Amino acid sequence: MGEGFALPRAGTTDDPVRLALLVSGGGSGLAALLRYQQTPRCHATVLVVADSTDAGGLEHGRDAGVRTVDVPLPMDIDKSERRLAHERLLHAELVAADVELVVLSGYMRILTPWFVSRWEGRLVNIHPSLLPDFPGAHAHRDALAAGVSVTGCTVHLVDETIDSGPILAQRRVEVLPDDDEEALQERVKRVEHVLYPEVLDRLCSGQVSL
Ligand code: GRF
Repeated sequence: MGEGFALPRAGTTDDPVRLALLVSGGGSGLAALLRYQQTPRCHATVLVVADSTDAGGLEHGRDAGVRTVDVPLPMDIDKSERRLAHERLLHAELVAADVELVVLSGYMRILTPWFVSRWEGRLVNIHPSLLPDFPGAHAHRDALAAGVSVTGCTVHLVDETIDSGPILAQRRVEVLPDDDEEALQERVKRVEHVLYPEVLDRLCSGQVSL
């Protein structure tokens, strides 16, 4: 990635960067972002996309008056081609909604190089650890098993490797002696819900250069 601003343009409150939020599960982070955007910001969500019909995140999108769409895996397509076919459907939704920045918020699918290359520099994720420590789907379990005293969360641009890509911000969270996976997850999420909107503010207002 070259010098300069990470996105093609900086957003303003009058003309915010158009976001799509991608979600798989309950979407507490997505709900926090939508709450944050109730006040005019330099980013606004125009589309919520879930990879299943029953993702809780869809309800949050509807409640906020944002267009929601579910794009489940196309089971009628041969397994060898299904993943790419799914991403083509997803990509088409994003393009149709004139999305400028794709924000993964608990989106549990690993994206293919095909999709990542189309959204390079315009695709962000939040991960519940201090990357590069504890990538993957069980960050809290792995952090507890490793016995670390501090973990946290990371906002990063997505590249073709899992939970990799340039780091935009990190925040530390102490691991408490009595923590189990659930307690740690909840405490880290509270920090995520503050960090992600802040980073999107910086990214979408042109304060991030890579
Ligand atoms: C968050 O911890 C996020 O970091 C990770 O997935 C979790 C999503 O939680 N990528 P929720 O669906 O937003 O509650």
